[in-house]
Amino acid sequence: MTRIFSGIKPTGHLTLGNYLGAMRRWAAEDQHRADALFCVVDLHALTVDHDPARVRRLSRQAASLLLATGLDPEVCTVFVQSHVDEHARLSYVLECVATDGEMRRMIQYREKAARERERGGSVRLSLLTYPVLMAADILAYAADEVPVGDDQAQHVELTRDLAVRFNQRYGHTFTVPRATRPAVAARVMNLQDPASKMGKSDDVGPGIVYLLDEPDVVRRKVMRAVTDSGRDIVHDPQARPGPANLLEILAACTGGDPVRLAGGYTSYGALKKDTAEVVIEALRPVRERHRELCADPGRVDEVLRRGAERARAMARPTVDAAYRAIGLLPPL
Ligand code: TYM
Repeated sequence: MTRIFSGIKPTGHLTLGNYLGAMRRWAAEDQHRADALFCVVDLHALTVDHDPARVRRLSRQAASLLLATGLDPEVCTVFVQSHVDEHARLSYVLECVATDGEMRRMIQYREKAARERERGGSVRLSLLTYPVLMAADILAYAADEVPVGDDQAQHVELTRDLAVRFNQRYGHTFTVPRATRPAVAARVMNLQDPASKMGKSDDVGPGIVYLLDEPDVVRRKVMRAVTDSGRDIVHDPQARPGPANLLEILAACTGGDPVRLAGGYTSYGALKKDTAEVVIEALRPVRERHRELCADPGRVDEVLRRGAERARAMARPTVDAAYRAIGLLPPL
């Protein structure tokens, strides 16, 4: 059976970008067609300046939101990364296969490191090795597929390189995974700055729709989205990123095609209004289920406890095999 692994980082409140680019597909399709694991990657949240209490709070919230989007713990495995030691164990071994040049070439590292330096801060070593830990997340479970948004494609590519290199040097140990991306909305852009990705770690802003935003907040943010002075409405992400972003969001929520949808509009007002309403309807059940789960925190804890147990049992044999293959003496 196909094995799927994906993760979400608790560094901010989850956004419409996370939902349309990744989570929605995990719940609607991936969990039903494969043996799937979904992980709150809390170790990754420590790679930039962080507040411990906030990371803990956001980790719980991310776990509840995963369930609220429709992940069924009877069908798939939902867990927290730091509850399974195998991630960190394997990450070290993969650091012995990766090179520092490879790490420094990663786009996300370059962007985040530049941002930290601009703020006058220093760059944590773990930010540089972040992609190796991500590779460990994926390879520990012998995942075949990694459903992600566009921004993670380079990291999955690196994971493939590390798996192939390890297998060539030390014997076949890892499954070589591949990234899968959604047909539309693989990169949802900030509504106020359609040249940049809608990112949860960015400053709170009117250009970011959060999964838990109330309907009137969603409506206001979408109605104020930046478009352009063009007269016609076309789907051209390069030349016309603002309208293209709205069309992608509309298409993702309605199952339509952004190019065809563009033909049905003659004004930005109508496009924004329809987009706002379909986003509100898409998020409504998530918000409602999340509210129910907040009233029953014991249920989320139990899901995470059982999830970690299952994940540990799945990861252990592969990580043990990697330790043996690379030359470590098995415990005596
Ligand atoms: P993270 O937490 O930034 O995002 C979680 C998922 O949401 C997608 N995504 C988006 N998709 C479309 N438009 C956007 N604006 C947008 N913003 C985020 C991301 O592509 C991702 O699929 N490094 C990962 C977490 C991770 C991981 C892993 C993922 C750690 N280990 C192993 C897969 C497998 C990250 O920071 O995702």
